[in-house]
Amino acid sequence: MADGIGKHPPAGGRICVLGAGFMGCVIATLYAHHGYEVVLCDSEPSMLDSYRDRARPIAATLAGDPAAAEAIVARVRGEAALPEAVAGVFLVHEAVQEVLETKQAVFAELDRLCPPEVVLATNTSSFLISDISARVTHRERVLGIHYITPAHIIPVIELIHGEATPPELVEWGRAFVRSIDHVGVACPERPGFLINKIQFAMLTEVYRLMDEGLATRDDIDAAVRLSIGPRLALWGPLLTEDLIVSKKTALAVTDSLWRQTGDESYAGRKVLRDLVDEGHLGAVTGQGWYTFDAPAGQVVEERDRQLRTLLDWLRDADPVGHLNVR
Ligand SMILES: NC(=O)c1ccc[n+]([C@@H]2O[C@H](COP(=O)([O-])OP(=O)(O)OC[C@H]3O[C@@H](n4cnc5c(N)ncnc54)[C@H](O)[C@@H]3O)[C@@H](O)[C@H]2O)c1
Repeated sequence: MADGIGKHPPAGGRICVLGAGFMGCVIATLYAHHGYEVVLCDSEPSMLDSYRDRARPIAATLAGDPAAAEAIVARVRGEAALPEAVAGVFLVHEAVQEVLETKQAVFAELDRLCPPEVVLATNTSSFLISDISARVTHRERVLGIHYITPAHIIPVIELIHGEATPPELVEWGRAFVRSIDHVGVACPERPGFLINKIQFAMLTEVYRLMDEGLATRDDIDAAVRLSIGPRLALWGPLLTEDLIVSKKTALAVTDSLWRQTGDESYAGRKVLRDLVDEGHLGAVTGQGWYTFDAPAGQVVEERDRQLRTLLDWLRDADPVGHLNVR
């Protein structure tokens, strides 16, 4: 990693958010809320003029009261000229539109303007970091910091590393997103990164079910909302598996799906077979993907308490009903 980047982002340091559109507006406001000095840059002056109006509702959600919200948006300085916008910053977070040539040109310019100790981050949703930084000399300071909409509420951020990104920069990214009360999850550049890869595995099946007329819209949503959805929200896919099924059964089901469909992607993976071979079947044996310190009976009681609490809350809150959809 370039000398001078340091292990931690400087508290209260200056950040340039490049692109004041949908995402740049939220990201700049979030950084200002957490005490950073923010310069918001956009080649379109009207985007800078309209920033405060667009940012107020976001700042209000973050701050909880209108006066504090006003103070947050007032801390963001608009600047149309890139050289002035990046002066004295420790981080540039690029959020221009998803056009590879535009991002490549922007990064080449940023590389020319910023000393090597300035971290260059991209909010790209789909491009490879290595492609975006193709024309960058100091590629070791380029990192994907990818927010999930709504970025000021969803706590997780993908930290995407390209072929030239050192592990130290990923750790720097974790420290930075911690400083704004978010959680970083690291993944190498690849189509879908981490979250879309998982999300679209499910959506692809849902589209197929709809396309083939095998299930209705309402049944699909109810099936997910009232079964796998709450479990995933509480524990994620791997801890959920440990808590609800023996690895032997999980492997038998994947193998059965594989035999019935001939679809290789169902074939039980080596990681799963290894756990079965080692007898690490999940909470039931005290070891699966996770190690359980409490006895299985106690784990089951706690599991059920958590799930019941969430399902009771969902039933009472009636989130779908409150959206007024038909
Ligand atoms: N919209 C989402 O929900 C979402 C979620 C996660 C990530 N992203 C990613 O965030 C990025 C931004 O998306 P968006 O939806 O905010 O786009 P957007 O079109 O709303 O905003 C892009 C802004 O960049 C400005 N811009 C373009 N070229 C510029 C340049 N050379 N210098 C300065 N400003 C420039 C434009 O004037 C515009 O205001 C994209 O990479 C997108 O894929 C979007």
